[in-house]
Amino acid sequence: MGQETPKVKQTRNNSLAVIDNRTGKQYSVPITHNSIPATFFKSIRAPAGPDGRPEDETERGLRVADRGFLNTAVIESAITYIDGERGILRYRGYPIEQLAENSTFLECAYLLIYGALPTRSQLSHFEREVLLHGIMHADATKFFGSFRYDAHPMAMLTSAFGYLGSYYEEANPSLQGQTLFTKCAKGDPEALQNMDKQIYRLIGKATTLAAMAYRVRQGREFVVPPTGMSYTESFLYQLDHLSPTDSFSASVSASSSPSPYKPHPVLARALDVLFILHADHEMNASSTTVLQTGSSLPDPYSAVAAGCASLYGPLHGGANEAVIRMLVAIGSPDNVPGFLAAVKRREKVLSGFGHRVYKTSDPRSFIIRKIANDVFAVTGPDPLLDTAMALHDAALKDDYFVSRKLAPNVDFWSGLIYRAMGFPMDFFPVLFVVPRVVGWVAHWRQMMLSPEGVKIWRPRQIYVGPSERSYVSFDEREAVQGPGKEPSAVVHSGMAKRRRLAEVGSLATGVKSKL
Ligand code: ACO
Repeated sequence: MGQETPKVKQTRNNSLAVIDNRTGKQYSVPITHNSIPATFFKSIRAPAGPDGRPEDETERGLRVADRGFLNTAVIESAITYIDGERGILRYRGYPIEQLAENSTFLECAYLLIYGALPTRSQLSHFEREVLLHGIMHADATKFFGSFRYDAHPMAMLTSAFGYLGSYYEEANPSLQGQTLFTKCAKGDPEALQNMDKQIYRLIGKATTLAAMAYRVRQGREFVVPPTGMSYTESFLYQLDHLSPTDSFSASVSASSSPSPYKPHPVLARALDVLFILHADHEMNASSTTVLQTGSSLPDPYSAVAAGCASLYGPLHGGANEAVIRMLVAIGSPDNVPGFLAAVKRREKVLSGFGHRVYKTSDPRSFIIRKIANDVFAVTGPDPLLDTAMALHDAALKDDYFVSRKLAPNVDFWSGLIYRAMGFPMDFFPVLFVVPRVVGWVAHWRQMMLSPEGVKIWRPRQIYVGPSERSYVSFDEREAVQGPGKEPSAVVHSGMAKRRRLAEVGSLATGVKSKL
């Protein structure tokens, strides 16, 4: 027998060697989960260079600059995984395709928040608690009634989450002590119970508040969340049910007993799957906002209100609305080539295509196409569908989009479904917020349960403003003037056109108007 070659154990050195050319010093930065700790760089110090500014604080350590969080991991999370290159999305390890096929929204909510698929009895307990907590205090009627008649539903919903917090002093660390939620990390059962109650309330009342924001503009009375329905059925009921005291019901029925109302099962299931698809998407802008806000330990209602405000922006929750506006502007399939040519000349943007993370395909877009077919079979196709299909097919064959890895995202189709279901366009972001509340509370809870405790999210900046200078008295100042350099003169909106005209009229008397 020949001699055996001794096995050499190959151990990988999980570190990064860094040489600071300012000082010639070498550092070894640990790599964990293919990431390096930004705080390590604080130990890399150098004397100020000849061209350095004191504000660069060279002696206090190197800073890591990442404008827009392009490559910064802000938290360790066990909730959602996305592989943007391979078009993969998983909640707690389960592929989104399997969840959309087999699960329900509240089951996915349980999974996202508590980490495991529930047993039957665990799920029915959770469903009961969430649906029971949908009922709002009667005073909320006055709150919603105080908005202007044309208030945007997202403005109402954002305010409503903050308003909701005013009811629950037991959920407020400013009143109860700042460890109110962080002591959950030690398994304190009372603290966990208190946290769960707020979670039930936030998810349960999300549909109620959204429905109130919808009905107030319709001039309809609010309805109490029903019993015996699923989460999405209950939402549709709260949006659409006409109570016996509603003027329409009263005119069609002399009876004062409530008419039975059951949402169409295909539409309820379609909305349920859409809610599953929108429930979480790891560190998107609004979830990050919830965590940023939550890190200073306010009540969870304030953190969710902040997330709602972040989602409202057209770069986040508003893209589905932009798709519809784009399709209306294109008008018909014949105009698609002209539109795409304008996109390629960078005069227009193809809304609903492209994604910061997904570079081949958005897995949600395939599921949503199937839902679209189910919905259109019930509602009839949307007149914009032909234009959408022509645009979709042409863009996928066009080298401009193929070479830039621009594929349809979830928003390309979701707006068409919402439109077919009869939702007004400014309600689309609300339909995104309701399910995303689940993702927000899952991330917030995970942060509160962190064994290391909660650190306030306080980033640094690179200061590029003036170095120290001395105060200058009025007499010695030179005016800095021009657009953007001083406060603008504005037209006062309280001044009606008639009044302005009246003042112009007063020119005859020799009084000069500046308006
Ligand atoms: N139409 C035309 N060109 C596009 C589009 C688009 N929709 N998206 C990206 N591009 C082009 C860019 O101009 C750029 O071209 P260049 O390299 O020649 O300059 C290239 O593709 C790379 O795009 P980036 O801007 O670097 O991609 P980024 O990751 O920064 O942006 C974003 C992603 C914001 C989603 C972008 O693709 C976009 O604006 N899409 C349309 C809006 C939209 O659908 N948003 C919804 C996203 S999904 C969601 O939030 C649920």
